[in-house]
Amino acid sequence: RAAIKQVRIKIEILSEDFAVRHDYNPIHHMQTRLKSLQSIVEKLQRKQLPVTMDAAISFLTDIAGVRVICSYLDDIYTVARLLLQQDDVRLIRTRDYIREPKENGYRSLHLVIEIPIFLSEQRLLMPVEVQIRTIAMDFWASLEHQLKYKAATQVPDDVREELYQCAIAIADIDERMQNICRKLRGQCEGEKDSTSPAT
Ligand code: GTP
Ligand code: MG
Repeated sequence: RAAIKQVRIKIEILSEDFAVRHDYNPIHHMQTRLKSLQSIVEKLQRKQLPVTMDAAISFLTDIAGVRVICSYLDDIYTVARLLLQQDDVRLIRTRDYIREPKENGYRSLHLVIEIPIFLSEQRLLMPVEVQIRTIAMDFWASLEHQLKYKAATQVPDDVREELYQCAIAIADIDERMQNICRKLRGQCEGEKDSTSPAT
């Protein structure tokens, strides 16, 4: 919980700072989740690890989870860079499912970072899984997740293919929205340049 709080504050500060400096916010919103005890136990069993505190701490890097939802594709890499350049943040693992989407079409940038937590009697290094994605990627992932869990049986091949095609369509929309944003922002910046007094 402490690790989630730390990362939440980092993201909030980045968000405010960016908004003030650039009159624009790369962070649309953020969600956090602490893995439940039941899920921790299930995951340890699935991975055939002993169900102990030590095993959970040593092997599970997603007990603390933070999801950052951005408006545009470029924002994802901006947020990742700003987070990783902080000197108390250590990158443990990157999985770029945007450059290399999963077979089912899932896209997101996953980082596992490690941050220090200061308790009354010790300083702990805690891993946090940070998922960074666009609103469009989040839309697909949320519904896909729901559908997968709702389905009584295995998802049939044709439905899986349909979901994959939706992911492709959404990826295309993300690119197009990014291009629109670039054009409009370029225009605004151009206008600003032409009207700002020479210094
Ligand atoms: P786990 O053992 O499940 O943690 O897998 P992993 O260690 O290979 O992690 P990975 O980075 O692939 O994904 C972990 C998290 O990403 C999941 O808990 C989901 O939140 C999200 N995720 C990954 N794949 C999918 C997917 O196909 N669909 C959806 N909706 N979410 C996914
Ligand atoms: Mg994981």
